[in-house]
Amino acid sequence: MAEAYIVAAVRTAGGRRDGKLKGWHPADLAGQVINELLDRSGVDPEAVEDVIMGCVGQAGEQAANIGRNAVLSSRLPESVPATSVDRQCGSSQQSIHFAAQAVMSGTMDCVIAAGVESMTRVPMGTPISLPYKNDLGFYVSEEMQKRYPNVQFSQFAGAEMVAKKYGLDKEDLDGFSYRSHERAIAATQAGAFEEEILPIEVDTENGKEWHKIDEGIRFDASKEGIAGVKLLAEGGSLTAASSSQICDGASGVLIVNEEGLKKLKVKPLAKIVHMSVMGHDPVIMLEAPIPATKRALERAKMSVDDIDLFEVNEAFASIPTAFMKELGVEEEKLNVHGGAIALGHPLGGSGTKLMTTLVYALKKRGGKYGLQTMCEGGGMANVTIIENLQ
Ligand SMILES: CC(C)(COP(=O)(O)OP(=O)(O)OC[C@H]1O[C@@H](n2cnc3c(N)ncnc32)[C@H](O)[C@@H]1OP(=O)(O)O)[C@@H](O)C(=O)NCCC(=O)NCCS
Repeated sequence: MAEAYIVAAVRTAGGRRDGKLKGWHPADLAGQVINELLDRSGVDPEAVEDVIMGCVGQAGEQAANIGRNAVLSSRLPESVPATSVDRQCGSSQQSIHFAAQAVMSGTMDCVIAAGVESMTRVPMGTPISLPYKNDLGFYVSEEMQKRYPNVQFSQFAGAEMVAKKYGLDKEDLDGFSYRSHERAIAATQAGAFEEEILPIEVDTENGKEWHKIDEGIRFDASKEGIAGVKLLAEGGSLTAASSSQICDGASGVLIVNEEGLKKLKVKPLAKIVHMSVMGHDPVIMLEAPIPATKRALERAKMSVDDIDLFEVNEAFASIPTAFMKELGVEEEKLNVHGGAIALGHPLGGSGTKLMTTLVYALKKRGGKYGLQTMCEGGGMANVTIIENLQ
């Protein structure tokens, strides 16, 4: 079977809700990422055979196949098609899998996997709430209600259930959240993100500037400040400080097979050595990265000790904390440059964002294998294992 290689990876710095990236239409933001992938790889735009775009809020500015609209906003020719993928928070990790599967099958040699979300311009939940308000119904069907009686599917409830199930209290979750900021601050100050971030020109009160530092990071984060944030739910353990931040952002990777490497004369950054996706309980919803990673490691004939770095999406602090506890992963190996609690979680844009960070973190730290996993609405998780080739 052919292999799949990542030959370029890039992300924008995250923007806070109503923050630096608020002026960017998501298709244009994703178009910038596509252009940068072409520049960095030097690949002839005509050689790109498809663009697979992850996006969760596919309504309004993100409707009508945002992948295609990003292509039309970029300097790719009209002949390059695109599709848009919804695997909820793992949407652009799924884009990576679809792109890799396309090149591994030999049906294509060069595919862009990307993701985008403007949570400012298309707020979270819009594809659910807007039609509901306009009498177009609700996504939970009668048969689903019979199967899950009296369940209100909610990521917030799922995150609290994970905390309870794995015996995590508020102190554990606040501690993890503080470290997310500590690491993101250290990475930013050491310039660890410079290579992976594409600066984006934005309008500010003081004129134009280049947005290149993740806006979510609280450079004054303190344990006391985090501990003082009010609980999201009475009797729960999570707060806004231990949740992923609302964020605008785009990211992408360019994936080729061996034929593509030769034909396009590009150097690989990493090889995809495993990919899988698994469904799990949709009520606890966010626990899936745990069983999915156990199964992925088993299938890849690897153990936790073989993995040098983990990127586990910080949807809520309970997810990576439970993951480490259950799988016996050392915190020194997980989200080494911080995660969505400090940096933000631009939903459909996070899968390729985490992969970009993983690729560059492996380069900087010299590790061999990296594993990425994300919890997803509906109770699913993708797992990708890469080998560093830099
Ligand atoms: C949790 C959530 C609802 C909070 O939204 P919000 O209330 O708009 O968040 P804010 O950033 O305004 O933070 C709320 C308060 O906590 C404070 N706060 C947040 N993080 C803090 C930190 N690290 N340190 C100190 N204070 C902090 C803010 O300053 C704010 O205080 P204020 O009310 O006095 O202004 C939102 O971030 C969210 O929905 N996150 C999850 C997104 C999600 O579900 N993604 C999919 C995952 S499955």
